[in-house]
Amino acid sequence: MKPNAPRYSRITGTGSWLPPRRLTNHDMAAMLAARGVETSDEWIVERTGIRARHFADDGVNASDLALHAARHALEAAGRRAEDVDLIIVATSTPDMVFPSTACILQAKLGASGCPAFDVQAVCSGFVYGLTIADAMIRAGSASCALVIGAEVFSRILDFDDRTTCVLFGDGAGAVVLEASEEPGILASDLHADGRHVGILCTPGTVSGGQVLGDPLLKMDGQAVFKLAIGVLEQSARAVLEKAGRSEADLDWLIPHQANIRIMQGTAKKLKLPLDKLIVTVHEHGNTSAASVPLALDAAVKSGRVKRGDTVMLEGVGGGFTWGAVLLDF
Ligand code: UT7
Repeated sequence: MKPNAPRYSRITGTGSWLPPRRLTNHDMAAMLAARGVETSDEWIVERTGIRARHFADDGVNASDLALHAARHALEAAGRRAEDVDLIIVATSTPDMVFPSTACILQAKLGASGCPAFDVQAVCSGFVYGLTIADAMIRAGSASCALVIGAEVFSRILDFDDRTTCVLFGDGAGAVVLEASEEPGILASDLHADGRHVGILCTPGTVSGGQVLGDPLLKMDGQAVFKLAIGVLEQSARAVLEKAGRSEADLDWLIPHQANIRIMQGTAKKLKLPLDKLIVTVHEHGNTSAASVPLALDAAVKSGRVKRGDTVMLEGVGGGFTWGAVLLDF
């Protein structure tokens, strides 16, 4: 970068990783039937759009999925681990209570020395992480950041609760975000409302050498659905206004991949044709903080999202948290 040049951040590479074990809805139905829990491919597809999800094998952790995704993103950006000067991992399923999954990843990647930390904003974690990395790059605190969403939600699912266990999957997505004279990230809009902590949570914790409370995911699906559909529209409009752009400028909308009905509802409210909506929920399920970067990488690899396209990323989930990032790719 030239001295005194304007300083922005721009995505220079994307990558992702799904654990190889793929379970279709039929596989899930058979697995649950063995426990006396009834579900069906028809119900899951009709209510959510999900057809399959990936589960990590025992012993494979969020940092392992993140490592694959990070390596792919670095390769796409033409960067090496030594070039990275900031690592942010968004996850709600960390390898350990501490240290952070970002530090564990840093050691596996061989990028020691740079700051590394986790962001906990559940399914909004990636847009939170990207916003933090953008701010640090524009402030001059970093110039080549790895921002990753990595989750092993299969570890916190209650397979006796059909209303939640069929919805989630494991995976990781990553971007390399670099300092640039050209924007890149145009605007962000982040929010949280802690009054809704109880509608989507994993309430257990570790205390005195034991798990206290229930360590499995709980969700009031209808409450989340209603909130999500409202805040995704609000955040989309807010981030466009901040950037001085309009819905007509959008080439692609990449919302959190939880439910096809929420995604299509958001696109319709924004009067976006559905072919501008990137959808991976049918193949990935809901991978929480990994869902947006996984969908972004799929869209880049398939040739849909191209250099110069205007893309909106949106997250929503536990907390309650939500937000959007608008960028020129
Ligand atoms: O990642 C954070 C963001 N999360 C989300 O955005 C999730 C938001 N919520 C949703 O996507 C939807 O609310 C769900 C997919 C979770 C549920 O869809 P719904 O249309 O709201 O269904 P429902 O909860 O109203 O349940 C309808 C029926 C119930 O039966 P009755 O009471 O009508 O007899 C459920 O017991 O569907 C039943 N049901 C199932 N049936 C077969 C619930 N889960 C299942 C299942 N298989 N897996």
